[in-house]
Amino acid sequence: MASLFDAEPDRLSRLTLQAAGLFLDLSKQPWDAAGVAAALDLARAAGIEAARDRLFGGEVVNASENRPALHMALRAPDGADFKADGVPVSREVEATRAAMRDFAEAVRSGRKVGATGKPFRAIVHIGIGGSDLGPRLIWEALKPLDPQIELRFAANVDPNELAQALVGLDPAETLVVTVSKTFTTLETLANADAARAWLRASLGEASDAHLVAVSAAPDKAKAFGVPQDQVFGFWDWVGGRYSIWSAVGLSCAVALGYEAFGGLHAGAAAMDAHFREAPLERNAPVMLALAHLFNRNGLSRPIRAVVPYAQRLRLFAAFLQQLEMESNGKRVTAEGRPVARPTAASVFGDAGTNGQHAFFQLLHQGTDIIPVDIVAVREGSEGDPAAQRKLLANAVAQAEALMIGRAMPDDPQRHFEGNRPTSFLLLERLTPEALGALIALYEHKTFVEGVLWGINSYDQWGVELGKTLAARVLADLDGAAQNPHDPSTTALIERLR
Ligand code: F6P
Repeated sequence: MASLFDAEPDRLSRLTLQAAGLFLDLSKQPWDAAGVAAALDLARAAGIEAARDRLFGGEVVNASENRPALHMALRAPDGADFKADGVPVSREVEATRAAMRDFAEAVRSGRKVGATGKPFRAIVHIGIGGSDLGPRLIWEALKPLDPQIELRFAANVDPNELAQALVGLDPAETLVVTVSKTFTTLETLANADAARAWLRASLGEASDAHLVAVSAAPDKAKAFGVPQDQVFGFWDWVGGRYSIWSAVGLSCAVALGYEAFGGLHAGAAAMDAHFREAPLERNAPVMLALAHLFNRNGLSRPIRAVVPYAQRLRLFAAFLQQLEMESNGKRVTAEGRPVARPTAASVFGDAGTNGQHAFFQLLHQGTDIIPVDIVAVREGSEGDPAAQRKLLANAVAQAEALMIGRAMPDDPQRHFEGNRPTSFLLLERLTPEALGALIALYEHKTFVEGVLWGINSYDQWGVELGKTLAARVLADLDGAAQNPHDPSTTALIERLR
C-alpha cells in the first residue's frame, strides 16, 4: 500500500473525505486507483443512488416484513415531509419529539416528582439489542462526569445485571424506563417485572407512577401498568437497531437533557444530507462501504476490528456488532436466492489504547489480515491535554505501523510485514452532533453494503430459532415438558434440572 502514494500523487486528496464534520482517510486501504474505480463501477451497477432514493422515499425496502426503514424521518428537522409507504409521518414524529422534550424538562426541573414527592435522581433503562446498545453507547459517550440524573442499564436476563443496576438506588427517586419495540422480548419483560416488584416493595401501588415505557406496541405497555401519559410510541418502520433516534433514546434525553438529544439528531441529519447529495466518489458512507467490501469480497477477509481511541466510545464496536451483523449477516438475497458473495464481516473491538495491549499482536503479526477502523477525537472531553496527545499519537502510530510494518530480515520474531489496512476517522470533539453523524455514517454504510450484496438489511429472522428453542428447553428445565432433543442437549438438560 505504501508504494501507492508514490505511484498516485493524488491518492491522499482522492481518498480523504469530509462529511458532516467528520474526516475520513481511506488512503491506507489496499486499493489502487483502478481498484477504487472498479469499486465505484460496482456501486453504480448495483444502483446505489436509486436504492438510496427508495430508502429515503419510504418505500418498502424491508420486503420480508413488508415495511419501509425510515429512521431518517426521526432526526429530520421540524417541517420535513417523510412518507412511510405513502403515509405522511413527519407530524407524528414531531409530536412525539415534543412530548419527549416536555417529559425530559419536567423530570430535570423537578416539576415532575415521584410517588413520595421526591424529584427523580436515577433512571433504570431496561431493554436489549437495539433497545439497549444505542442508548448505552450514547450515555457513555456524552454523560457528564457528575450527572444530575444517574442512568443505569439492564439488558441481560441474567438477574445479576438488574441487581447491579438497582444497587444503592432509592426507589422513591428512580424512574424505570422499559424499552421494547415489540413488548414481548423475554429478557426485557423479565427485568421489567422484577424492577416493578422492586418499586412496589417500597412504594406500593403508587409506584406505577415511576414506570415509563417506549414501544411500538403501546397497548401492551399500558396493560403492563405503565400510566398512559408515560407510554411513548414509535413505529414499525423503525428497525430496532436503527431506533436510537426515536423515543428509544428517551432515557438519554432525560439524563443528558433534550438539547443533547437534539444535537444527535442534527448530526445524523447532516450525515443524511451528505449521503443524499455527495457524489459517490466523495460520499463517506459509500466509500467506507466500498473499502470494507474490497477487503471482504476482493481479498476474502471475514473479520474487521473497530478501535475507537476514546474511552467514551468503548462501546462502539458492540453497537456496530448488532448494526452490521444483524443487518447484513444474511446468506440469501432479498428474493430468497443464495447470495453470490460472502456478506457481513464479523466485527470486534475495544477502546484504544487498551486494545493495543490485548489483541493488537494478532493485528500486526497474526496469519490473518484484519482491517481496522480507527476512530479518533482531536479534543478530549476532559482531563490533561498532554494525555490526549499521547492517545492521538497512538492512534496515528498504529495506523502507520500496520501499513508500513518493519523489515527485519534477520529476525523473524521482530519482523512486521505491514500492508495491513486501516480506515481512519477523525472527530473534532465528541459532541452530540459528531456522535450522531458517526452513527448515521455507519447506518448508511451498512445500507450500501446490503444493496451491493442484494440482501434485505432490515430483517433479522436468524435470531428467531434460538428464541423458540429456549422456550422449549425452559419447559424441560422446569419439568413441565420432556421434549425430544439430540443426545448432547438432553444430557445438558438433565445435568441442569
Ligand atoms: O432478537 C433480536 C431483536 O429482535 C433485535 O432486533 C431487537 O433490537 C431486540 O431483539 C429487542 O427487541 P425489542 O425492542 O422488541 O424488545
